[in-house]
Amino acid sequence: MKPVLVSGVQPTGKLHIGNYLGALKNFIDLQNSGKYQCYFFIADLHALTENPEARDLSKNIYNLAADFLATGLNPEKSVIFQQSQIKPLQELKWILSALTPVSELLRMRAFKEKVLQALKPSERKKITKKKFEKVIEESNFGLAEYPVLMAADILIYGTKFVPVGDDQLQHLELTRTLARKFNNKFGKTFIEPRVLLTRTPRVMSLINPEKKMSKSQPESCLFIEDSPEEIKNKIKKATTDSGSEIKHDRKNKPAISNLLEIYSALSGDAIQKLEKKFSGKNYSTFKNDLTDVIIDYFADFRKKKPVLMKNQLKLSSVLATGSQKAAKVADKKIIEVKKKVGLI
Ligand code: ADP
Ligand code: TRP
Repeated sequence: MKPVLVSGVQPTGKLHIGNYLGALKNFIDLQNSGKYQCYFFIADLHALTENPEARDLSKNIYNLAADFLATGLNPEKSVIFQQSQIKPLQELKWILSALTPVSELLRMRAFKEKVLQALKPSERKKITKKKFEKVIEESNFGLAEYPVLMAADILIYGTKFVPVGDDQLQHLELTRTLARKFNNKFGKTFIEPRVLLTRTPRVMSLINPEKKMSKSQPESCLFIEDSPEEIKNKIKKATTDSGSEIKHDRKNKPAISNLLEIYSALSGDAIQKLEKKFSGKNYSTFKNDLTDVIIDYFADFRKKKPVLMKNQLKLSSVLATGSQKAAKVADKKIIEVKKKVGLI
């Protein structure tokens, strides 16, 4: 049997090039390698922690399903499904939560960042310990529980590999700890899953290369469905470093390094080759070339996505079929788990 590989993406809006290069591109390559049983899902339950309007959430679910298919995920090769359709996840999440210290959840970096997003940037900068504690107390419980649901998402399919960007590493570490704890207490049941990172596990913001590109800051993002005109403008405006050399140096030239990494990941050319190609050239030549590479790379996606968006029937049928397949595996696993803990 091929090893199981699982990953999910939250339906929280348009995908940016960080999502693509840190996660989605890898999903497609791994799927096409034929070496894994792949499960890719829309993490709609996780997206609820962001408190979307019902209309936005349902629109975003279809939007992400279309993104999955238009970038190259294939329902003939991968199980593509909707997280909320997998009922046993709730039981596994509960069983795992009884093994999870609250302190572990409160120290998660992603949790702290999301909680702080409720504040204005000026308040965030000079926050006192007391104020921080208050913000945590007032935050929604789903945000704290988030990594336990994520552990259930992974463990319920007998997963060995999880391709994600590096902002998810801490969540994966908790998943491994929970698998180990459960196995020690109740006997071997779960595999400790391993992370698969890409060569670009952390694409940085176009505006501030010290920060990761994130949907929560749309102005930092290059979206994969941006029009050629938008791509041109965003790359033109992207921050550059002092000096004029096109050189990869994360520490001293973070902005150009980020752009070089994007260029290299999309073109397949090694960074050194690009440094040579642009030696003696200026930033604007480099940016013009990069713009062409991005516009070309996503041309096929820009054609396919609107067609899929018009075919909601196809999208819901792919998700329904995939969800049935995934639920079958999860139903079996939860019986094993419940027997182990003494519930049945
Ligand atoms: P965001 O952080 O933009 O809200 P998600 O949480 O939906 O995005 O992440 C979906 C996938 O994309 C995850 O595997 C995550 O690790 C990856 N990812 C998100 N931002 C980046 C980034 N800037 N660089 C690389 N990978 C990223
Ligand atoms: N937390 C992930 C993110 O924000 C989404 C996610 C939910 C996920 N469950 C998962 C990723 C299980 C991998 C495996 O991107």
